[in-house]
Amino acid sequence: MIDKILNYLEENKDQHVKELCEYLSIPSISSIPAHDNDIMEAARFTHKAFEAIGLTSEIIETDGHPLVYAQSEQLPDRKTLLFYGHYDVQPVDPIELWESPPFEPRIENEIIYARGGSDDKGQLYTHIKALEAYVKLGVDVPVNVKFIIEGEEEAGGEEIYKFTESNPEKLACDAVIVSDTSLYNEETPAICYSLKGLAYMQIDVKGPGMDLHSGSFGGTVQNPGNVICEIISRLKDGSGRVQIPGFYDSVLELDDAEKASFESLNYSDEVLCKDTGASGPFGEEGFTTLERMWGRPTLDVNGLWSGYSGEGAKTIVPATAGAKVSMRLVPNQNPEQIAELFSKFVEKITPDGVEVKVSYLHGAQAVMVPRDSEMMQAGMKAMELGFGSKPVFIREGGSIPIVGTFQDCLKAPVLLLGYGLPNDNIHSPNEKFHLRNYFDGIKTTAYLLKLAGE
Ligand code: BES
Ligand code: ZN
Repeated sequence: MIDKILNYLEENKDQHVKELCEYLSIPSISSIPAHDNDIMEAARFTHKAFEAIGLTSEIIETDGHPLVYAQSEQLPDRKTLLFYGHYDVQPVDPIELWESPPFEPRIENEIIYARGGSDDKGQLYTHIKALEAYVKLGVDVPVNVKFIIEGEEEAGGEEIYKFTESNPEKLACDAVIVSDTSLYNEETPAICYSLKGLAYMQIDVKGPGMDLHSGSFGGTVQNPGNVICEIISRLKDGSGRVQIPGFYDSVLELDDAEKASFESLNYSDEVLCKDTGASGPFGEEGFTTLERMWGRPTLDVNGLWSGYSGEGAKTIVPATAGAKVSMRLVPNQNPEQIAELFSKFVEKITPDGVEVKVSYLHGAQAVMVPRDSEMMQAGMKAMELGFGSKPVFIREGGSIPIVGTFQDCLKAPVLLLGYGLPNDNIHSPNEKFHLRNYFDGIKTTAYLLKLAGE
């Protein structure tokens, strides 16, 4: 039976690539209101893809971007899998660094280049195509399936939380499957068991009533540009340790077993340099790169502005300055509490002569998912069969905010079955998705549908 499925997948590869390219052509950037129509189009595309494989599907309007829900006929005495994904994508700037337009998918050397390729349209579409094979061949799917696909994951949207909290019966399931993470590397598939949390902050500094002549008034009043630098410079010490009092208090420390398991993956800083274009590693002293990446909380400036940054010189004392700062959190740090500690500290270190405003833009809880669930066994086997080698356990530094809510509200284990690569350039120019990952991802889901029912 699985041979028939694999055969169908082999024969329909071109069609599956063509459809994914159509999906990737829709510029569904969730954080830019000018793209609201594209968001709607991507929601409709997703909805139609579900209908085309015989699922009952609906577009659920919300106060934000729409959710797309779909389900198969729910038969009693069968396990139910809930698949989650997001059809929205990140903005594309700096656009000039793209080698081809982000929403005109280009295939070169068996790799699709397009925004959303890996994060997350390409990954979520694997599930739809795997299910399609069963449906088109009339092969019984031994599990009930449900899908909930959102359109504001990249923008810190709240709608999916509200929906999950108020509709736990609709989403009730035996396991949640999320494909929005990566393999360990091209040769080594992986299952992720922990995601970081997040506290995203903005600092606004206000100084003089207007930009001033820096000769007439420089050195006589506070300069917000200098002040923002002073604040930022005090958030971490020179060895990368965060200086906010209480920041590390509730951190779940890595135990020896976990450290050994990271160590056994033989991560090399050469890979780090290659994947990032950085000249060397840097981070909290006393920890390896993987420990920093996966198991330690971090703090980073995401954006910084003040004064004049155009061509040539303009002699001013700027009136304002600002910064966006994200803190990636680990279990058991609480995002609201960390945001509070951050605000208090920034207010305390801000010098006299300026006004400072600290805002908490959004947050997410770090999560750990069980490694010993039955579904984990099925997931490991499915990955091994789909990608051709045994997966390793990894953690990730990224966040998928809804995962914590799924665990709390649905009381079901979450399986983070990622099909991307760590160097897929997600959120960066030239995002890509390897066709091999697409095809093997589809196969993995096809195996999972079978194994989860056994
Ligand atoms: N697919 C990513 C999550 C991810 C990133 C997993 C890196 C593994 C490695 C997801 O789409 C994402 O980007 N999430 C945001 C969430 C944020 C906006 C709340 C993130 O991590 O920045
Ligand atoms: Zn993302």
